[in-house]
Amino acid sequence: MGSAKRIALLGPPGAGKGTLAKRMIETWGLEHLSTGDILRDEVARGTDLGLKAKGAMDAGELVSDDIIINMIRGRIESASQGFLLDGFPRTVAQAEALADISELDAVISIALSRDEVVARLTARRVCGQCGRIYNLAFQPPADPTVCDACGGDLTQRDDDKEEVISNRYDVYAESTAPLIDFYRGHGILHEVDGSKGSAIVFEAVTELLG
Ligand code: AP5
Repeated sequence: MGSAKRIALLGPPGAGKGTLAKRMIETWGLEHLSTGDILRDEVARGTDLGLKAKGAMDAGELVSDDIIINMIRGRIESASQGFLLDGFPRTVAQAEALADISELDAVISIALSRDEVVARLTARRVCGQCGRIYNLAFQPPADPTVCDACGGDLTQRDDDKEEVISNRYDVYAESTAPLIDFYRGHGILHEVDGSKGSAIVFEAVTELLG
């Protein structure tokens, strides 16, 4: 990778942001800052923040900008070796707040159609122990209920029901897709085709970031 150390991933639900992020952080040692993962951890621990966020998450709506910005600010500021933002920013207001916290070197936008999003997310399973992401259709584990890597239980996310997935896609199109033009205007946008296999997507990103 060239000099890019402050990177954000954009893309609809299920575009493969988390899958790509795992490869990128293993290879380049950046801090993975996934607002979705942080929120799910808060919900699982039953914290005040988790209780405030749960309703919006279960409905496929966005959690409020204030909550998200307060949650992520300190983590970005302390990521001295560089960071990979996954799921943030998601609105123009969040992008403007981020600009006050840190500059970005690159934004990678992963494109995927609504039909492909629904097909992928209804088949997604996640290991409750190590966080590894599987897909029963495209990247199946040997046993659909057991993690190949650590033997943990594989579960389906609460927001991976078809009606919620559809709403998440609409919310992305309305609130987050405008960030593609926002960052194109800043000259730091790179676009990749998320419908290719995850190894091809990773290679494309490696080439783009030089
Ligand atoms: P979040 O967790 O960020 O969810 P998301 O953006 O909807 O994205 P996903 O995690 O569903 O998908 P992904 O792109 O990471 O895909 P993955 O790699 O898993 O957010 C959840 C909720 O939190 C939001 O709805 C909102 O309520 C709240 N929230 C979070 N951030 C917020 C913010 N900034 N502001 C406000 N609210 C916020 O891959 C998906 C599946 O496809 C997997 O099964 C995988 O195995 C498979 N796959 C991946 N890549 C490929 C490939 N190339 N080919 C074939 N299959 C693939």
